Amino acid sequence: MLKKAIIAILIVGAGIQLIPVPKNQSDELPETDFFQSVEAPLAIRNMVIASCYDCHSNNTDYPWYGRVRPLAWFLQKHIDEGKEELNFSSFREYSDRMKREKIRSMISQIRDGEMPLQEYLWMHPEAELNEKEKKKLIEFLNQINKDGTD
Ligand code: HEC
Repeated sequence: MLKKAIIAILIVGAGIQLIPVPKNQSDELPETDFFQSVEAPLAIRNMVIASCYDCHSNNTDYPWYGRVRPLAWFLQKHIDEGKEELNFSSFREYSDRMKREKIRSMISQIRDGEMPLQEYLWMHPEAELNEKEKKKLIEFLNQINKDGTD
């Protein structure tokens, strides 16, 4: 009985590997990317790309388990939902009002430690922002909200 159940699980587990998961990847920052519209120090840019772009852009750096279903579906759901709320890759297509709103929302999410998502940090400790980094990033975001973006 137990043996049959284990075999069934293995077969289903292998079978679902054949169901395709769409990939969210493109090689370079598009014209419409957030960082094409603001002058950002390299450190800030790298920080945001490392901590936020996997879920909030058209460019996900997939981890090894990103191809393993059902984990891959879980991951894809985060990417779909994250991009719907905020997509750095098409930031310049937002209206001015929307841009301001999104920047304000980024500030509060970072300040409150809501983003990057906790579940993500378990697998990506390098994406965690320490207090100093958070402070720098928030200062930068406040500044561009004052200066405006292209
Ligand atoms: C693991 C994927 C993931 C990562 C990494 C991530 N986010 Fe998110 N983000 C989401 C998801 C999913 C949502 C929508 C659901 C929610 O709010 O929890 C979201 C929502 C948001 C929102 C909109 C919240 C609102 O309601 O206005 C902002 C702003 C945001 N994220 C900013 C960031 C920033 C800035 C970073 C990097 C410091 C980041 N996120 C990293 C997945 C992620």
